[in-house]
Amino acid sequence: MRVLGIETSCDETAASVVALDGDSAPEILSNVVLSQIEEHAAFGGVVPEIAARAHVEALDGIVEAALTDSAVSLDEVDAVAATAGPGLVGGLIVGLSVAAANKPLIAINHLEGHALTARLTEGLDFPYLLLLVSGGHTQIVAVRGVGDYQRWATTIDDALGEAFDKTAKMLGLPYPGGPNVEKTAASGDASRFAFPRPMKGSAQPDFSFSGLKTAVRQAATAIAPLSDQDVADICASFQAAVADALGDRVARALARFRKEFPETAKPALVVAGGVAANRTIKATLEARCSKAGFAFVAPPQKLCTDNAAMIAWAGIERLRAAMADASAADFVPRSRWPLDSVSAPLVGSGRRGAKA
Ligand code: KG4
Ligand code: ZN
Repeated sequence: MRVLGIETSCDETAASVVALDGDSAPEILSNVVLSQIEEHAAFGGVVPEIAARAHVEALDGIVEAALTDSAVSLDEVDAVAATAGPGLVGGLIVGLSVAAANKPLIAINHLEGHALTARLTEGLDFPYLLLLVSGGHTQIVAVRGVGDYQRWATTIDDALGEAFDKTAKMLGLPYPGGPNVEKTAASGDASRFAFPRPMKGSAQPDFSFSGLKTAVRQAATAIAPLSDQDVADICASFQAAVADALGDRVARALARFRKEFPETAKPALVVAGGVAANRTIKATLEARCSKAGFAFVAPPQKLCTDNAAMIAWAGIERLRAAMADASAADFVPRSRWPLDSVSAPLVGSGRRGAKA
């Protein structure tokens, strides 16, 4: 089985060919990702119109590069899997238009791509727990099977990556903020500011970050003008607060998983999304997992952030489970598309707008 994956839901134009032969491990034959970060940097965030235009300009070349890298021709591809939501509709339309390739098209939920990645990279068995922390999403999902997801937690305000980006902006650090906050925090004193740990102790594992952002702003305003050391101390204190709050929320979810899936001998927590690159956060989660007897699974960063291999793989999983939607070519892109249609949507938003 060979599937060409396309990802255009936000600010990456990506294409990839993934192959699965019989019972052997799946193989990523190519994985091409073009980031639009530079196009959006001047605006401090993703501008939908710029994103859609950039996808139009880049996609043909990216698909061609993915096919060339994989040494697979379009004729040899069994199906095209394209992200159909959630995300920016302009970009989604561009991606779905590759259906013109005259191949069966599988419409993929972007979040399903993230949710199934650990099966591509580690062959992980169901069920497991997923923590998705990116610029657009902050969710904990129980992954029970292909197409069988239960969202256990989401953010009631900002996405975590968004909180990093806004904090960076406030402190005059460049976009995207997350990596710069982490770098700056390395020379800071994490105990200088006692920032709040939003939602800590609440029974549901949901998240909130806007109060923390406000606390950072107040602290920065109170001691302005900021020296380099002030900025580093704020970054370190912010990061410590985030890691602590996240650890608490995740611990709740691990406990719930134990209760709901007692037969899972070696349960696992999978992390995905750009924020999963953060070493302080990773170390905190790893410690929580080891305390609770969970395996901590962090797929390679390139496959944790937005990419098309995860979309191709979700296509293969759906084909294999006979769950590919044959009428997908008529699929209307969806800006909102919760993975789990049962959980009531919370107010959750992200800098790219509400996604799920
Ligand atoms: O998954 P991703 O590449 O794209 C989407 O949001 O879809 O995630 C990007 C987000 C940005 O908000 C960025 O600031 C954050 O991930 N990020 C980080 C780090 N690297 C990226 N946040 C904290 N620490 C990092 N090292
Ligand atoms: Zn994503």
